[in-house]
Amino acid sequence: MLVLGIETSCDETALSLVADGRHVLANEVTSSLKEHQRYGGVVPEIASRAHVNLITYQLEALLEKARVHPAQIDRIAVTFGPGLAGSLLIGIAAAKALGLAWGKPVVGVNHLQAHLYAALMGDTPWPLEERMVGLVVSGGHTALIEMEGIHRMRLLGQTRDDAVGEAFDKVAKLLGLGFPGGPEIERTAVGGNPKAHRFLVARMKDGSDYDFSFSGIKTAVLHKVREFGNGQAAQALPAEAVADLAASFQESVVEELVGKVLNACRRGRIQRLIVGGGVIANRRLRERLKELCADFRIALGIPSLGLCTDNGAMVAGLAAQLIPGEPLDLTARPNLAVESFA
Ligand code: KG4
Ligand code: ZN
Repeated sequence: MLVLGIETSCDETALSLVADGRHVLANEVTSSLKEHQRYGGVVPEIASRAHVNLITYQLEALLEKARVHPAQIDRIAVTFGPGLAGSLLIGIAAAKALGLAWGKPVVGVNHLQAHLYAALMGDTPWPLEERMVGLVVSGGHTALIEMEGIHRMRLLGQTRDDAVGEAFDKVAKLLGLGFPGGPEIERTAVGGNPKAHRFLVARMKDGSDYDFSFSGIKTAVLHKVREFGNGQAAQALPAEAVADLAASFQESVVEELVGKVLNACRRGRIQRLIVGGGVIANRRLRERLKELCADFRIALGIPSLGLCTDNGAMVAGLAAQLIPGEPLDLTARPNLAVESFA
């Protein structure tokens, strides 16, 4: 089965052609990131306009690269939530138009489930119906879920405040680093001492043991920046101090994530873990997940680096496993929950 995947939930206009839910034939990703950089975050209006400008050219490039004719495509998949309403609508409108023009079914895909599915793509066959724990860590979401295969899931915990990627972005800003902050923190942390500071992640008195909170740690970094900088801007801090803060922050977040994931696996007696989302591109997090899963004999599904941040391949891949609905009923669901389907 050949699926065209369209992803426009945030700042990436991403299209991909995937065969049999696993093999990526071609992948096109363009981000409007540069246009947002001066604002320090994604501006929804700019993102939507960029999708409109890019999407048809990207489709042409994709079909040419894969040497695929539209007649060969079996279905069209599109992210319908969660994400920015205006951005989602551009992808959905494109998918519906192509569906009508080419006479193909259209499948709505949950962006968070697609991030997890990215861990199941590639050459190694991975069972899709087993019990698994799933962790999604992206710029907008942090969710820990228990899955009965890829079609049934239950939310165990989520963030009470900032998503993990958002915390990386905000801390990078505090440290005078660029946007998006995740890759900047990772790069800066390489020369730093992860034990230089001990940043404690807040413990919640109520709610789920699996809920997360990252805003306290961000404030703790802010206090350190003020302490070191004598009230001056972060740019005035010595490079060594910035590297130590970046490394210590990264280490605290990574340990918080791996700790909760391990608890979920052990308490639920689940020996499979899949992870996804932009933050999974973080090398320290990947390394710790691999170490921990090896120690506890947990099978780990982790997306290749190129499939961690937003892409159309994960959308096309998951859509191969879903049943197409009525395309005209499909609409943008900006706050779609991780367990929801179209
Ligand atoms: O999944 P994604 O591309 O978009 C959303 O669905 O939100 O995730 C983007 C997030 C950003 O917050 C970015 O800072 C973070 O992923 N990120 C990273 C790394 N690469 C991207 N965070 C930590 N380390 C990285 N290497
Ligand atoms: Zn995403």
